[in-house]
Amino acid sequence: MSEETKYDGHFAVEGGNFRNAGQVSSRIKNILKDLGCDSDMVRRAAIVTYEAEINIVSYARKGLIHLRAKPDSVRIEISDEGPGIADIELAMQEGYSTASPIVREMGFGAGMGLANMKRFSDNFSITSRVNEGTQVVMQIDQVH
Ligand SMILES: Nc1ncnc2c1ncn2[C@@H]1O[C@H](COP(=O)(O)OP(=O)(O)O)[C@@H](O)[C@H]1O
Ligand SMILES: [Mg+2]
Repeated sequence: MSEETKYDGHFAVEGGNFRNAGQVSSRIKNILKDLGCDSDMVRRAAIVTYEAEINIVSYARKGLIHLRAKPDSVRIEISDEGPGIADIELAMQEGYSTASPIVREMGFGAGMGLANMKRFSDNFSITSRVNEGTQVVMQIDQVH
């Protein structure tokens, strides 16, 4: 761990497990709060992590969320094994969703997840390979 890294760890997310959905993002929120991170940074990190976690649960077989916190920025890396995304530009569009009826019944599938992950990040990148999986890297910086 580099000297200025305050936290470095990863969390597993199980595809299809809606019962536990949201647990990782709430743990991450608490870790960042306990580190004394700026509250706006904590809020944005919690939002993007929640959306990433829900996407793994909804679409992938399994995934990992890697959190690295520095004094004035948070880096969140998501990687999953799953169907991947064939058309990323389309998937990024607000309102676009392939969520199943079951997923929608649970209140997910508004098609805002990826768009919000980008909106609340200062740096966002996504890569994906069909039938392999998807990776998202997000950085959130402290404003002041
Ligand atoms: N990790 C993922 N693996 C495969 N497909 C995904 C993944 N994340 C998102 N997608 C695809 O991108 C679409 C848009 O995702 P998102 O913006 O989070 O909205 P929603 O999850 O509400 O559909 C999803 O409906 C799905 O088709
Ligand atoms: Mg989503």
